[in-house]
Amino acid sequence: MKERNISGENPEKEAAGIAAAGLVSSGMVVGLGTGSTVAYALQELGRRIKEEGLEFFGVVTSYQSEMLAIKAGIPLTSLSQHPILDLAIDGADRVDSNFYAIKGGGAAHTREKLVSMSAKRFVVVLDSSKLSEKLDHYVPVEILPMARELVSAKLKELGGKPKLRLASRKDGPVITDNGNFVLDTDFGIIEAPEELSLKLSAIPGVVEHGIFSNVDEVYIGKQDGTVKILKKKKA
Ligand code: 5RP
Repeated sequence: MKERNISGENPEKEAAGIAAAGLVSSGMVVGLGTGSTVAYALQELGRRIKEEGLEFFGVVTSYQSEMLAIKAGIPLTSLSQHPILDLAIDGADRVDSNFYAIKGGGAAHTREKLVSMSAKRFVVVLDSSKLSEKLDHYVPVEILPMARELVSAKLKELGGKPKLRLASRKDGPVITDNGNFVLDTDFGIIEAPEELSLKLSAIPGVVEHGIFSNVDEVYIGKQDGTVKILKKKKA
């Protein structure tokens, strides 16, 4: 699939973002993810609103996507008003060969999971560095601040090495858009993502973790501006 207007700054992310923006049609309600790849999709959606008269509503996943959506002129709604979305578009930090993903590099995975789980179709946009046979990336775990010690101990019992995510240009920890902390937890290569996902969700004090099992399609941008599309086979 050949895409248009690739500027060359980050061609893989840009190609993937622009291609996914092409999935949006008038009348839809669309989940808008967070991160630098989705930012290209939001920009392209803004262009389509202005130049093509595209009309749709977006549901944001973070303050970042809210700001970018407003800048792009995308009208917004909420999950309370639109609990079922036609489509969600988001980035990821890793996707494995079974379509399991790790998200949360931008600490937005809690709202991203709520939004993507509300969508009939969840499309992930990536550059080629994010694909791997098995998940081999740390898992961001959003936690209630007072649960830090308890959750850290439980994550260690599961074989993880939790590390509190620290802020840059602010002393102390990253505070998520929901007012919580993030423990980036290294589990090495994750052989059984579904099992780990269930175990993480069962820890008291965990708000949400970054393992996603609901990816339907993956758009992988390439250097030449083309996009490879992988679709999960329905069971
Ligand atoms: C934010 C995320 C992002 O989607 C993920 O980190 C990918 O970001 P980018 O497109 O900038 O590489 O999960 O919480």
